[in-house]
Amino acid sequence: MAASSDSRRGGGDMVRTPAETAEVRREAAVEAALGKLDLDAKARLLAGQDMWSLPALPEAGLASLVMSDGPIGVRGVHWSADDPSVALPSPTALAATWDPGLAHRAGVLLAQEARRKGVHVLLAPTVNLHRSPLGGRHFEAYSEDPYLTGRIGTEYVRGVQSGGVGTTVKHFVANDAETDRLTVNNLLSERALRELYLAPFEAIVENAHPWGIMTAYNTVNGTTMTEHHHLVNEVLRGEWGFDGINVSDWTAARSTTGALAGGLDIAMPGPRTVYGEALARAVRDGEADEARVDEAVRRVLRLAARVGALDGAEPVVTEPPAPVDGESLAREIARRSFVLVRNENGALPLGPGRVALIGAAARDARVLGGGSATVFPARTVSPLDGLTAALPDRSLTYALGADPNTELPVADQGFELRAVCRDSHGTVIGSRSAPSGLLQWMGDDLPEGVTHDTLHSVELTGTFTPRETGTHTLGIKGLGPFRLTVAGTTYFDDVQRPAEDGDPFAAFFGAPVPHARVDLTAGEPVEVSLTYTVPPPSGHPMHAIGFTLAHQDPQRDPDELIAEAAAAARAADTAVVVVATTDRVESEGFDRRDLRLPGRQDDLVHAVAAANPDTVVVVNSGSPVEMPWRDDVAAVLLTWFPGQEGGAALADVLTGAHEPGGRLPTTWGSLTDAPVTRVVPENGELPYDEDVFIGYRAWEKHGRTPAYPFGHGLGYTDWTYESVEVDATAEGTTAKVRLRNTGDRPGRETVQLYLAPGEADPTRPARWLAGFAGVEAGPGESVEATVVLPRRAFEIWDEATMSWSFVKGSYEIQVARSITDRRITATINV
Ligand code: BGC
Repeated sequence: MAASSDSRRGGGDMVRTPAETAEVRREAAVEAALGKLDLDAKARLLAGQDMWSLPALPEAGLASLVMSDGPIGVRGVHWSADDPSVALPSPTALAATWDPGLAHRAGVLLAQEARRKGVHVLLAPTVNLHRSPLGGRHFEAYSEDPYLTGRIGTEYVRGVQSGGVGTTVKHFVANDAETDRLTVNNLLSERALRELYLAPFEAIVENAHPWGIMTAYNTVNGTTMTEHHHLVNEVLRGEWGFDGINVSDWTAARSTTGALAGGLDIAMPGPRTVYGEALARAVRDGEADEARVDEAVRRVLRLAARVGALDGAEPVVTEPPAPVDGESLAREIARRSFVLVRNENGALPLGPGRVALIGAAARDARVLGGGSATVFPARTVSPLDGLTAALPDRSLTYALGADPNTELPVADQGFELRAVCRDSHGTVIGSRSAPSGLLQWMGDDLPEGVTHDTLHSVELTGTFTPRETGTHTLGIKGLGPFRLTVAGTTYFDDVQRPAEDGDPFAAFFGAPVPHARVDLTAGEPVEVSLTYTVPPPSGHPMHAIGFTLAHQDPQRDPDELIAEAAAAARAADTAVVVVATTDRVESEGFDRRDLRLPGRQDDLVHAVAAANPDTVVVVNSGSPVEMPWRDDVAAVLLTWFPGQEGGAALADVLTGAHEPGGRLPTTWGSLTDAPVTRVVPENGELPYDEDVFIGYRAWEKHGRTPAYPFGHGLGYTDWTYESVEVDATAEGTTAKVRLRNTGDRPGRETVQLYLAPGEADPTRPARWLAGFAGVEAGPGESVEATVVLPRRAFEIWDEATMSWSFVKGSYEIQVARSITDRRITATINV
């Protein structure tokens, strides 16, 4: 349990450590600053002044606190490639490393990125659970298992905060799907909350002492999370001793008095929020309690003191950690996250010989998932780039095979664009480079010199140099009046009016409409221009300007493309097919409808596998997809959204320079077999009927066999598990596992411990993950893994007493390579 700030402060004659002394001084600085603020200033501090920051209050020596998304990089305060950020692999990938140490190093790098960009608080990590594989934002969370999520999240937070930058663990709580996310009322038992959904938050609060959390959009058991007195004030703050800030998810705060009573400290984004002037008025009218306002302000000032934004307070970190090389860390995490789920007859690493690389995503890699998690890296290495660099002396051929895009994708490859802003007289008032055809300016994130009052139109303008000759299609995604011109011809000059669905981000999540079909020649640049006329400001609390120039290469006959790829595979010794999801499949803002690979990619793999038995399939997706061909190919490597260095890491692993190190953090199976899938509410409600049985807990309960089980993943060597010794005392349970590398190359193994009740109990899962450790050994060497099982592994939440209950009895400790590949066991009585 985390110590409360009071007990940490201590009293009497206690001897304090330097860290405790600094904390006492910070608390004193907080009180001093609080005393200098009047009600209006305090109320102002609790509301965003814009999209990403809080106001500075010079009278109290307080600088403006700046926040930014997270979690794989630090986008900063602009949606622009002008200030790039390193892009690490997706959170699912980080969890697949099963290596809290790597998560820590990721955090240190992100703090470095944040400091470079003047960001005090990273809006991360996302620790919601993979309840249903249909969850659209699945790639942004870690796992279906709360313990693994908590371990990875804890070190991520510790890493970021060791760099002096705050975190907001999100989204508190049960934001496990995207359908109707602003309003859905998730109905779940206190036991499911405690044992599953709250568990990662609790572990992180206890072990990493985060400086912030973010409360979710959704409602839990009838109360919206930004007003959830029970879960925020009683559980998070009361029971767990959390002393950081509680910031709303963006626009999630709905009521001034409700949010204040529910423990919300900061309403984001600004400037129009339920706090600020409205809060000061509520206090003056006697509707809100100023003491509660003071509590919230105290927490914001404490955050400022911790990150060094409050005069007179020494920040927690005075010497940032040694600089980290982002590119090499991104590459290391990627290869350590890749999960080799199938490798027949040693298909990988690749032998000598010719390689046919196939797939759209082999050339245009999908390195990250869509939505607020988007960052703009300075470079991306595609599989084609990575393999071209790694196999210089081998013949490497490339074939597209199949286009995964079922609709027009964002204009990207070959486009050089700027966004030019004009006032109502047509005078240019500012401009900014555009990373792609996707323009997304939220709040006051406008080019320098531009304000919402003066902005009349935005023109995305520049050149497009096609890489293929033929008929190109251009289109528009977004709401409102647009004019699209290509090579001097205007193809559209009208208004697009898709249905409103109430989500402020709707314009970003709809489908693009094709408008221009233009014959172009490879290598010959043409001028393109898409002008959007900005509507007058709406009543919505958040300004958002978002639209997309979409583009599709000339379409070839899909059968012909597949035949071409099969021919390339036939002519090579090995075929490597990269299949992928798209940002229309996995993104924030909507859920998935199925788990199929989009387009004709399944047909492509079948055809290539028929042409060459030595076919390796690389799956570039953030979360599970169905792989109907998986038994027909030689190897399957899951690479997640691998971040900016993904292609280089892929070459490391395919060539055998490094072992793929990942283990599945989530069960991969078909949608029809998956026991828990529902994400669509009925009458606004989504009951979590499965209670504590999600993920592998549910697969086992229903006796269903997934494609690949939780924890599964192969390396390039073999391991023999020799013994396990368990020491169970009143203080705790420790297992020592001895295992040997029986293969012929050095390797790393993730030793997994599952705890199974001695007597089957239908109210509990058959077994659950209770500990894990990574070990390394050379060929023939034996090594010992020490795994400590937390007390919580033996506890259940007792709804009758509303408390944790230690379940005594006999348990089997199962030492395993995955939940189904259990190697040795020991029985204990506790
Ligand atoms: C997301 C948050 C994110 C915030 C700011 C919201 O839509 O749910 O995760 O931090 O936007 O971009």
